[in-house]
Amino acid sequence: MKKIVFVCLGNICRSPMAEAIMNQLLEESGLKSKFIIESRATSKEEEGNPIYPLAKEKLIEKGISNFSHYSQVFTKEKYEYYDYIIGMDDKNIHSLLQIVENDWNKKIKKLHPNHNILDPWYTRDFETTYQEIEKGCRLLLEDLIKREGE
Ligand code: 4NP
Repeated sequence: MKKIVFVCLGNICRSPMAEAIMNQLLEESGLKSKFIIESRATSKEEEGNPIYPLAKEKLIEKGISNFSHYSQVFTKEKYEYYDYIIGMDDKNIHSLLQIVENDWNKKIKKLHPNHNILDPWYTRDFETTYQEIEKGCRLLLEDLIKREGE
């Protein structure tokens, strides 16, 4: 069982969307039982708050409704627990490296290696965010299947 955590700044828009999309992809491919998917924030700003309504609306519009979520902060103690720690943008990666101090297992990666998932909290473009996260999750899943030999 591999454990993946998606991480963004507030854990109310991008990373809970990634968590829900990844769970949906795993369900569709019959691999749900092989992975644990979670999401966390790099900041305490939204701690305890539910997924942002426009992010939730977008997921429901795309047929994804089987999720419940409240913002939680990523802590250094959980570094060992996860196998893959996936940030949405360079700022998330920078914050994660500060939190863990030393990514000695090279677990911290960006969802799109050469591209930042812009924050829809600021862009208000939840459709583009959805499409970019879905594409990133599909590529990640392909990579996981290769790596983990599923
Ligand atoms: P997220 O978006 O990092 O995609 O969850 C944000 C949500 C809230 C804030 C920033 C980003 N905020 O500053 O409250």
